[in-house]
Amino acid sequence: ARVVVLVSGSGTNLQALLDAIAVQGAPAYGAQIVAVGADRYGIEGLERAERAGLPAFVCRVPDHADRAAWDAALAEATAEYAPDLVVSAGFMKIVGEEFLARFGGRFVNTHPALLPSFPGAHGARDALAYGVKVTGCTVHFVDDGVDTGPIIAQGVVEVRDEDDETALHERIKEVERRLLVEVVGRLARDGYRIEGRKVRIP
Ligand code: GRF
Repeated sequence: ARVVVLVSGSGTNLQALLDAIAVQGAPAYGAQIVAVGADRYGIEGLERAERAGLPAFVCRVPDHADRAAWDAALAEATAEYAPDLVVSAGFMKIVGEEFLARFGGRFVNTHPALLPSFPGAHGARDALAYGVKVTGCTVHFVDDGVDTGPIIAQGVVEVRDEDDETALHERIKEVERRLLVEVVGRLARDGYRIEGRKVRIP
């Protein structure tokens, strides 16, 4: 399967996918990353793409007349690489109608909380502030809501009394990276069906 990965930051989830493919080989893993997209310049995620010799594109909201134009441009740039699967790995923008029309049903996101708890841009921080004893991460298909699409897999992470946001988010990311690698490989190799809110992987 051809995979495009969208990033906005450090790109450690992207790196985990790249490392898995390097170790297993694209045929055995079932997926190859064909391009990396970002919503901003100057992030480590783009440096990781460059080091891996991958094509990259940057689609910034301010460079477009409005949000819909940005969304259409992002969809166009992504479609250039004919992906079978698009993975949002720390991509911090909500895509719009055009992107979902083109990639809905084959667009997954990873979120650093146990959805439906703590959706949005600060999953780890919100869980810590709330005082939950366990949190975790969720890999799900993206729908037209914010972190509301059908859940594919989740991983549980304990919250420790001494945690601050960074410590907790790092502990979540250790689980998240493994979960994302496992899910992307399975979707790519085994295929899947989305039935309402359920995801069936044979
Ligand atoms: C991940 O925890 C992702 O779930 C969240 O931001 C983090 C991105 O980390 N949205 P990285 O850029 O993959 O290192």
